Amino acid sequence: MHLFLLLILQATAAFGQIDPAHCRYALGMEDGRIKDDDITASSQWYETTGPKFARLNREEGDGAWCPEGQLEPSDSQYLQVDLGRLTFLTVVGTQGRYARYSGNEFSRAYRLNYSRDGLLWRSWRNRLGNTVMEGNKNAYTSVINDLHPPAVTRYVRLIPVTRLSTTVCMRAELYGCQWDDGLISYGGPEGQLMMPPGYPIASLNDSTYDGEHERRRLVGGLGQLTDGVVGLDDFLMTRQYHVWPGYDYLGWRNDSLGGRSYVELQFVFDRQRNLSSMKVHSNNMFSRGVKIFSSVSCWFKPRLISSWEAEPVAFNTVLDDRNPSARYVTVPLSRRAAKAVKCRFHFADVWMMFSEISFQSVDTVLTTLRPVVSPSSPVKKDITMATTPATGLTSDPSASVPPVSGNTPILIGCLVTIILLLVIIIFLILWCQYVCKVLEKAPRHILEDVTVRLSSCSDTIILQTPPVPPRSGHAPSGPAHTDPHYERVFLLDPQYQNPAALRNKLPELSQSAEASALLLGSLLYDQLTSSHMTPAWLRACGGGYAEPDVTQCTPHQCFQSNAPHYAETDIVRLQGVTGSNMYAVPALTVDSLTRKDISAAEFPRQQLIFREKLGEGQFGEVHLCEAEGLPEFLGEGSPLPDRDERSVLVAVKQLRADAAGQARNDFLKEIKIMSRLNDPNIIRLLCVCVASDPLCMVTEYMENGDLNMFLSQREIESTLTHANNIPSVSLSDLLHMSVQISSGMRYLASLNFVHRDLATRNCLLDRRLTIKIADFGMSRNLYSSDYYRIQGRAVLPIRWMAWESILLGKFTTASDVWAFGVTLWEIFTLCKEQPYSLLSDEQVIENTGEFFRNQGRQIFLYCPPLCPPSLFELMMRCWSRDIPDRPTFEGLYQALRPHVHQ
Ligand code: ADE
Repeated sequence: MHLFLLLILQATAAFGQIDPAHCRYALGMEDGRIKDDDITASSQWYETTGPKFARLNREEGDGAWCPEGQLEPSDSQYLQVDLGRLTFLTVVGTQGRYARYSGNEFSRAYRLNYSRDGLLWRSWRNRLGNTVMEGNKNAYTSVINDLHPPAVTRYVRLIPVTRLSTTVCMRAELYGCQWDDGLISYGGPEGQLMMPPGYPIASLNDSTYDGEHERRRLVGGLGQLTDGVVGLDDFLMTRQYHVWPGYDYLGWRNDSLGGRSYVELQFVFDRQRNLSSMKVHSNNMFSRGVKIFSSVSCWFKPRLISSWEAEPVAFNTVLDDRNPSARYVTVPLSRRAAKAVKCRFHFADVWMMFSEISFQSVDTVLTTLRPVVSPSSPVKKDITMATTPATGLTSDPSASVPPVSGNTPILIGCLVTIILLLVIIIFLILWCQYVCKVLEKAPRHILEDVTVRLSSCSDTIILQTPPVPPRSGHAPSGPAHTDPHYERVFLLDPQYQNPAALRNKLPELSQSAEASALLLGSLLYDQLTSSHMTPAWLRACGGGYAEPDVTQCTPHQCFQSNAPHYAETDIVRLQGVTGSNMYAVPALTVDSLTRKDISAAEFPRQQLIFREKLGEGQFGEVHLCEAEGLPEFLGEGSPLPDRDERSVLVAVKQLRADAAGQARNDFLKEIKIMSRLNDPNIIRLLCVCVASDPLCMVTEYMENGDLNMFLSQREIESTLTHANNIPSVSLSDLLHMSVQISSGMRYLASLNFVHRDLATRNCLLDRRLTIKIADFGMSRNLYSSDYYRIQGRAVLPIRWMAWESILLGKFTTASDVWAFGVTLWEIFTLCKEQPYSLLSDEQVIENTGEFFRNQGRQIFLYCPPLCPPSLFELMMRCWSRDIPDRPTFEGLYQALRPHVHQ
């Protein structure tokens, strides 16, 4: 019986104080508990299609609520429901207008806005940041949408969404349960990224926070600490499918909070409460530097406008170095009266991680959850209808066993079901372990003959022979094929891993494909940053689309694509994943780089006359200068404009005099690379000043700055822009720009050079609108939000990066093609929006996992309204998962060029 109780407690511990899996009670649209007066709308077509007729499965009036007139795509008509009290909302059901065969209006999609106070409205978003939910496909079938994450709210607005002008009508039911905590917001420092070497990156932020993010602080919202999802013992494992490691926890590092050894969180309640306790679900994986807090002190405010009371409640925990289980820590709060509480949680180790926080107050009544639903309701079967009897119990905060009801048969039924489920789970785990063992023992040659893919659905590694066919037109390659469709990820291959580390990790891999892929990524990262790296020229041969045949590469044939950037020393160690490394050179070691390697001529620096600053970065600046006597200096045939003038305007990129050795070498390397490039669409190096400090490189001056800035300040040409003198560009300008970039990239690809950071911010325009591709690390300051910074180690332009670059650290011309697709997308949105602007950086990384799995769940960039469909098809081909399905730059150039009017 003890074991039973333990199992039950563990099963219930999967959820917070509220269990979203069971909190799915109809809230009263259908059965009338929600009164007519509490259902309102922005408009109604007729009296008989008013909001009070929006009740699911009811046929009163004309059968549903219908907003007035035709619904337009830009409309925000809504049906509003006042639930009368704070509610944990978990499910929404909708139906169209059927009206006993006479109606046929319904809404194919809708959004949900919610408000806890009727004043501040928030848009509900799913875990990927999408706001639109699938609605109905006909007038009679109800469609149920689970809210992941759930929303804590009193007011709900359902907003029908349409792509075409149409009539819509709606009936609805809302499902959830009462929000007893009364908590209406919490705030504190944002969670952080954990990047331990050899492990996946754990993103410990609050991904569903519905308040504001102000200067790295969470303000005025609720999120993952109150979503009812309790984190697992291993914080890298997640309860949610389809998310990244660390998702369930909010975590902080003790040296990252400005010298404080505690995390301060503030909590605000709907009304004054007599708080008896606070339960904090905390991770305790001490082997990874995570422990529950050592102590906590809480201060109270009886009213929001009063100041904090002087006397805190303090509580010391008993630290536990033996049991690594995550656990609830119950903090007694002495029934202090409070409308707001602030608590300082003191670190006991390097990291502190919470997945849930709940409050118990002596005035909280654990009220009845009455699932009163009419028997004819078609959604009943989809909704868990567990009945909780009306006990009217006052919560006992110290109680660790859930309150026992008098309804014994139901309880026994539940217990039996749970036990059965546990038996099935245990069986599955044992079976999985058995399969893993068999795989590990499999002879190596068998493993080598199969393509290993990471599967999301089975949470296991699927081995399959032959490999999956490509998405289009390519003959499937059998196991012996030398040109696989994507890099063969052979988990046991020493090239990809430190065998010991990965073998130990195999069981952990099973949680999600992201975890697996990120693990691979981070293992690769370790490999690349370790001192036992493959020689650079060997690694860098992937300039073409076929897998690099390293046996064919010599340092002279093969261009180094990973020259590090001088502006980010850490990136250097990450093997150039920022892509801020411009051009390919035959491999050189840092030590061997000397002045004689630099073919550009030395210009007398006193002849450079400073005019203005164009840009700035961590390691230097770019200046606009007049170069006196430059035409003579360069001599006949030099590519300068205005050759009749003695001095010309140039851009001078200057390394800070005190820049360290690595930055200096990177700067010299960039000079060396650039001096060998010669193409009308690549920025040209004119001369250098490297005989003395500060080191300078002198390039053509591009009067119109970078393409991102240029386009974002313009509108598409129209009579309106002409009439009002608004700076504009035409569609044909945009196409011309695209052709020029494809041409410059075609040149780089012909040299097997991989750019790694192609984006509009790295394309410059001269006064004739000629585009030249460049890469100026100094623009990083201006465009820092385009780069994902991994705890001071590196910056990655993740929104432009192919999946294999993010997950495997693999950069090739094919990954440049991916970035070219994103660059085209920027051009045709006139750089008014960041790619995947609705996704956070973490969500972009998660989406990368979907690109990798290619099961139709990846989010693509949308077709910009200005973009011709054929061009969008081209973009989509650039984002093909399988490398051979992506076009070449030559192909892109040939496809784009005919569209430009000469
Ligand atoms: N900013 C950085 N490099 C530049 C260049 N060559 N011309 C104009 N602006 C720049």
